Amino acid sequence: MKDKLKIGLLGLGTVGSGVPTILKEHQEKIAQVTGMEIVIAKALVRDEDEKKRQAEKFDIQLTTDIDEIINDDEIKIIVELIGKVEPARTFITKALENGKHIVTANKDLLAQHGSELVALAQKNHCDLYYEASVAGGIPILRTIANSLAADNIQKVLGIVNGTTNYMLTQMVTAKKSYEQALKEAQELGFAESNPTNDVDGIDAAYKMVILSQFAFGMNISLDQVDTHGIRGLSLDDVEMAAHLGYEVKLIGSSEYNNGSIAVEVGPMLVAKTHPIASVRNEFNAVFLESSGVGESMYYGPGAGAKPTATSVVSDLITIAKNIRLGTTGHMFNSYSHDTEITEDKNINGKYYFSIEVPDKHGQILRLTQIMTEADVSFEQLVQQKSDGTRARIVAITHTITKEQMKRVASEIKKADGFKLLTIFKVLEDK
Ligand SMILES: NC(=O)c1ccc[n+]([C@@H]2O[C@H](COP(=O)([O-])OP(=O)(O)OC[C@H]3O[C@@H](n4cnc5c(N)ncnc54)[C@H](OP(=O)(O)O)[C@@H]3O)[C@@H](O)[C@H]2O)c1
Repeated sequence: MKDKLKIGLLGLGTVGSGVPTILKEHQEKIAQVTGMEIVIAKALVRDEDEKKRQAEKFDIQLTTDIDEIINDDEIKIIVELIGKVEPARTFITKALENGKHIVTANKDLLAQHGSELVALAQKNHCDLYYEASVAGGIPILRTIANSLAADNIQKVLGIVNGTTNYMLTQMVTAKKSYEQALKEAQELGFAESNPTNDVDGIDAAYKMVILSQFAFGMNISLDQVDTHGIRGLSLDDVEMAAHLGYEVKLIGSSEYNNGSIAVEVGPMLVAKTHPIASVRNEFNAVFLESSGVGESMYYGPGAGAKPTATSVVSDLITIAKNIRLGTTGHMFNSYSHDTEITEDKNINGKYYFSIEVPDKHGQILRLTQIMTEADVSFEQLVQQKSDGTRARIVAITHTITKEQMKRVASEIKKADGFKLLTIFKVLEDK
């Protein structure tokens, strides 16, 4: 008979319902690895009647009162799966103050209040694990913190939002419009009825804050991530990208440069030969460049009840082992570095500009003058379709700084008759 390790579960939604299933399915293996039987003693819900059947199936006691869990001395670990910042932040804070270890999948909370919660966990000698908060089923945080501890990461590129990757895949492969792709993602349950966090890049930005902390030890705030989404993305740009040998992807990137990092989220033109271009539909991937291993990519489901609950249970197993060995209270990621953000003049890249111009003589010359004044040259220049009065010009620059890109953008916006449609960063395969 193994010792029982009792946990309290907050929320019995998509992921919350997956946790008892995974614990039951892999009961024997978990008991063997941890030397304990992990059981969900109580679950916090909003409506006990609604969750009654689930609770009976897994023999879980339901409650609508958080204090019944937080003040239960037999409960050692609390798994928070209610999502969003409040009341999750208050519940976790109280639980840590009461000496409970925490597992959560809450990227909104970790990205905005991670440092505060990590410090509180440390103060109370508690564990705080959140593997599922980035890329659902892909064990990327543990990989960076443990397996790559001896390596020096220079760059992290992530497709970390499954909803937008699904939409972009549909736009590229089935030539669906942005609106059609969004509607389909909502019908399939990938996108919420209010898709703001996904399509405006906010969800990806949350994950890049957490990934940057793991890869570079820097605690950045959300407003230090230069965030753009895919809202209203035109099929014209997606098709032009394909014509030029690229695929449009919503990429989160965090890049180290001489003691500082640049963290961005936005649609990028990814060379079709780059490994990350092959990540399709709702799948996620994190691509790393590091001095030891070189290039490596971690691919898998970024969401879903089972993959995400599997990550949550792996955190539970880690804590169970720590309890057994008496080693709780260490940080999930103990690498720390002064936080410094790279200035635009030190951020380099190629950029894709899509510009609408009057369909008359001399427009390419006017654009060339703007580019030349900013010391920017073209690698590719294409004049696209015209309705007789307006034409579209697409240009890919040679490598320039972000400062130069902004200068060109500002001059194009001021130029009479010019309309700047889109700017994407370009990611080449090395
Ligand atoms: N879904 C995924 O694939 C996925 C992947 C990675 C990470 N995550 C993260 O995992 C967390 C949970 O996501 P989810 O998809 O499982 O969400 P969900 O399906 O909406 O489930 C959340 C559950 O929490 C309950 N809840 C909310 N506030 C509560 C409160 N104050 N007291 C008691 N219960 C409360 C909700 O109750 P009602 O049913 O009454 O609304 C719901 O059952 C989030 O942080 C999310 O970002 C999810």
